[in-house]
Amino acid sequence: MNEKKYVWERLDEVDSTNELAKRKRMEKSNCVFLAKRQNGGRGTKGRSFSSEEGGAYLSVLTHYEGYPARRAFELMAGAAIAVCRTLEAYGLRPIVKWPNDIFVNGKKICGILIENTLSGEEISSSIVGIGLNVRNSLPAELRDIATTVEEAGGRVASTEEVAKRLVEELQKPADMAAYRRYLGFVGRKVLLRVGERQIEAILRSVTDEGALQVEIAGGIQTFSSAEVERVGIDE
Ligand code: BTN
Repeated sequence: MNEKKYVWERLDEVDSTNELAKRKRMEKSNCVFLAKRQNGGRGTKGRSFSSEEGGAYLSVLTHYEGYPARRAFELMAGAAIAVCRTLEAYGLRPIVKWPNDIFVNGKKICGILIENTLSGEEISSSIVGIGLNVRNSLPAELRDIATTVEEAGGRVASTEEVAKRLVEELQKPADMAAYRRYLGFVGRKVLLRVGERQIEAILRSVTDEGALQVEIAGGIQTFSSAEVERVGIDE
């Protein structure tokens, strides 16, 4: 990603580290905001993100000069790869559910919310928000679909150590070949939601620009915006 220096800010509790990063964006320094708890944790598509103590909740604010907006997916891929490498270091075998949910043992262990600021055709700053379940308790309604490092049998480190490793990994080079190696559910039948439509397809790959490639009725189709709603239908 980059070799920039980051100023760290640690908080016991905050509404959302992404929101805090937005409030601090005008200060122009590259920052990591790490919170023990969030009381208004945000997920993608306007969802909330459960953020009990014991998880790693951080947002990495990076300012750029001349970062082309057409390469936005690289930030997403870089974040997903960083999380996967971190989880491997704790003894787990993660996969990516396109575009950037991270799964272990069939359950979501980490969500990523990236919020970029555009200036013309360029990204002037990005906020990479990562919520990684480490040893936090999960609300009852998530227990069948989410997991933690502890529950999955990984080495349980402090959230400080996990966050440091994540930020180190974020700064290493990452490419689409690495992203594709972590891409999960390849060859599986999935249910895609594309706007109001639901489409059954076989997941095949991801293009260099980050669009999902699926097989539908023997032909390959590409979607830049969709949600993989279910995996393994009819299996
Ligand atoms: C998702 O799974 O929908 C994305 C979840 C992203 C959660 C992280 S936790 C740190 C940062 N602050 C937030 O409010 N959200 C992100």
